[in-house]
Amino acid sequence: MTENMFKWESDADGIVTLTMDDPGQSANTMNDTFRVALTETVDRLVSEKDSITGVVLTSAKKTFFAGGDLRMLITAGPDDAQAITERCDGMKADFRRLETLGKPVVAAINGAALGGGLELALATHYRVALDVKGSEIGLPEVGLGLLPGGGGCVRVPRLIGIQSALLNVLLQGQRHKPAKAKELGLVNETVSTPEELIASAKAWIKANPAAQQPWDGKGFKIPGGAPSHPAFAANLPAFPANLRKQLKGAPMPAPRNILATVIEGCQVDIDTAQKIETQYFVDLVVGQVAKNMTKAFFFDLQAINKGNSRPDGQPQYTARRVAVLGAGMMGAGIAYSSARAGIEVVLKDVSLESAQKGKAYSEKILAKAVSRGKLTQEKADEVLARITPTADPADVAGVDLVVEAVFESPDLKKKVFGEIEDLVAPDALLGSNTSTLPITDLATGVKRQEDFIGLHFFSPVDKMPLVEIVVGEKTSDVALAKAFDYTLQIKKTPIVVNDSRGFFTSRVIGTFINEAVAMVGEGVAPSSIEQAGLQAGYPAAPLQLLDELTFTLPRKIRQETRAAIEAAGGTWDVHPSEGVLDRLIDEFDRKGRSSGAGFYEYDDEGKRTGLWPGLADAFAAGTVEVPFKDMQERMLFAEGLETVKCFDEEVLRTVPDANIGSIFGIGFPPWTGGVIQYINGYPGGIPGFVARSRELAERYGDRFLPPASLVEKAEKGEIFE
Ligand code: NAI
Repeated sequence: MTENMFKWESDADGIVTLTMDDPGQSANTMNDTFRVALTETVDRLVSEKDSITGVVLTSAKKTFFAGGDLRMLITAGPDDAQAITERCDGMKADFRRLETLGKPVVAAINGAALGGGLELALATHYRVALDVKGSEIGLPEVGLGLLPGGGGCVRVPRLIGIQSALLNVLLQGQRHKPAKAKELGLVNETVSTPEELIASAKAWIKANPAAQQPWDGKGFKIPGGAPSHPAFAANLPAFPANLRKQLKGAPMPAPRNILATVIEGCQVDIDTAQKIETQYFVDLVVGQVAKNMTKAFFFDLQAINKGNSRPDGQPQYTARRVAVLGAGMMGAGIAYSSARAGIEVVLKDVSLESAQKGKAYSEKILAKAVSRGKLTQEKADEVLARITPTADPADVAGVDLVVEAVFESPDLKKKVFGEIEDLVAPDALLGSNTSTLPITDLATGVKRQEDFIGLHFFSPVDKMPLVEIVVGEKTSDVALAKAFDYTLQIKKTPIVVNDSRGFFTSRVIGTFINEAVAMVGEGVAPSSIEQAGLQAGYPAAPLQLLDELTFTLPRKIRQETRAAIEAAGGTWDVHPSEGVLDRLIDEFDRKGRSSGAGFYEYDDEGKRTGLWPGLADAFAAGTVEVPFKDMQERMLFAEGLETVKCFDEEVLRTVPDANIGSIFGIGFPPWTGGVIQYINGYPGGIPGFVARSRELAERYGDRFLPPASLVEKAEKGEIFE
C-alpha cells in the first residue's frame, strides 16, 4: 500500500494507531488527500481485521482535524451538485465502515476537533479529548451558512438527544471546551497529557472488545425520544416557530436545513438519514448564502487576523500598561477589555468617584461571568486588580498606550492629550475613541502627530468585536502596527481605514438609517419599514435604532459635515430624511428614546410601548406602499453604494475590512457576507447590482445612481477583490 496521511503503527497487543498527518499542510482537512487516504486505510483495516484488536485515531498536527475543505465549497455551483453528493456519500460510507468494523475504534482527540473533525470522531466508538488550551470541540458550520454534512446532524441527535443536539451544538455552532463537550456527551473522557490520551484510548479498547455504536444496537432509541414520540410530536411545531422568531425572518437557509435534517433524519434509519443530510447539505453548498458567509467568516476574517492590513516589517507590539482617559460608558468598557486581556489599566476621569464608577462596570461584568461559571472568582479578582481608577494625571506616567474616551469635543480631547503627553512613555501610542471627529485634526493637539491614531470601539465594548483603526495623515506605520497588535491582544478584530468624516462605519450606517427615515417621509407605514429591515437580516429595526441613537446627534453630524463641505466649495445634496428629522425635533419635540419620545413612545421607565400614533397625521404614514423588496434593497443598496464611495475616496483599503467591518460594526446582514460581498454576489454579479441601482434611482432618487467606478467594474467584468 502507498504511503498515505494515516500513519499506521501496530503495537504488541494488536492495537493499530492511525496518526493523521496531511503532508505539507498545517492542519488535516477533508480534502482529496484525506478522502483517498481514508478509503485506503479503511480498506486495509477491513482486510487485516482479524489481526487487529482495535484502532486509535489521532493526529500529528496541533489540532486533531480542522474540518471541511472550504476552498472547494466556495466555488461550487449548481452544476457541481452531483459530484459533491457523490464525494459526500463516499466519505460517509467510509465513516460507516469504520464504525461497523467490528473492532473498537477510539478517537484520541489531541487538539481542536471542529466541523468535519468532530464528525470523524463521532464515527468512532469512544472519544477521549486532551484538555489543553485551544482545544475546541463543536460543529460550527451554521456560522458559515452550512450544515455538518459528514454525519454530524445524524449522529449528534442519536448520541445526546434532539433537543440538546439542536440547542447546544447544531443551530448555533457553539465551540465547546473539552470539559463542556464531555458534560454534553459529545466526548466520553478528558485527559490532561498526550501520554494519558493514548493510554486511555488503548485501555478502553482492551476493556471493550465488542464495541459498537449505540445506534447499531438492538432496540436503539434516540435519547429523549424520536420526533414521532407523542410527547415530542406535541412540541414539534414549536421548533420551526422558535427558529423563525430567532431569525426574525432573515434569509438564512442553514438553520432551517439543519432543523429539517434532524427532524426528518431521526424518523428513519441511519443510512437513510445520512442521505437526507447530504441532500440538505448540497442544497446549501451550491447556494449563495453559504458562499457569502464562508467568504466573510472564514476567508476575510483569516486575512484580517493574518495581518493583511498591518504594515509589513514593523516589530510585534504588546501593550503592557494603558491609560484610558474618560471612564464613561466607552472608557469603562475599554478598560474592562484591556484588563481582561492582561493589560494594566490606569482609568482616569475628572474625579476619583467617576473613575471608580467606571471600574465598577468591570466589577459588574466579572461578577456575572463568575456567577455563570465562565470565570473563577480568583481570575475575576486578578482582572479587577489590574484597573487603577484615578483623577490624577501623574498616575499615567510611563504608560505605553493611551486610549482617550472623553466627551465628543475636539477642544476637550486636545486639552486632555496635552495634559498627559509629556508624562507617558516617549513612544507611547496615542489613540482616540472619537466616533465622528477627523483624526488628522485631533492630532494637531499633540506634538507627536505620527503616534496619533483613531481607535474606534463600538458600544457595548465588552460585547462588540470590532475596532475601526483610523489612520490620520501623519500617522506612522509603527503607530498603525501597534494599534493593530493591541486590538488583537484584547481579542477584538481590527479593520483599518483612512481618516474621513464618520470614517467607514458611521458614514455607512447613516445611509441605512436615512433611507428608513426617508420612507417615513414618503408615507410608508413605519411598522412595514421596521419589518423590512429585520427581514433583510439587520439585527435591529432602523427606526428603533435611530431612537436609541437620538435624533439630535445625526442632525449635528449632518450640519457639521454640510458646513465642512460647503466651506471647501462643495455642494450639499439634501437627503429626503432631513425634513422628517427636523420636523420631529422642532415641530413635535421628539428626539429619540433618551428624551422619552421618538418614532416610538416610551413609558416612565423608558420601556418602548409602541410606534407613535401621531406619525399617521404628521407624515400620512401608511398611505403609500413601496414593494417590500424595494424597501429592503433601498437600505442594503444605500449602504453598498456608500461603501463603494469609501473605496473611491480611499477611506477603505481592503475588501475583508469592508465586509467584516460592516457585519461586526454596523449590523450589515451576515447572510450577505458583508457589504462588498453583497455587491459581488448580487444576482447577475456587479452588472446586476448596477442595473438594479439604476432602477432604484429612477424610482426613489439619484442617490441610488451607481458611482462611475462601479459601472466600470461592471463593464470590465471585474469584481471587488
Ligand atoms: P460618556 O459621557 O459616557 O463618558 C465620557 C466620560 O469622560 C465621562 O465619564 C466624563 O466624566 C469623562 N471626562 C470628561 N472630561 C474629562 C477629562 N478632562 N478627563 C478625564 N475624563 C473626562 O461618553 P461615551 O459614550 O463613553 O463616549 C466617549 C467617547 O467615545 C466620545 O468621543 C464618543 O464619541 C466616543 N464613542 C461613543 C460611542 C457610543 O456608542 N457611546 C461609540 C464609539 C465612540
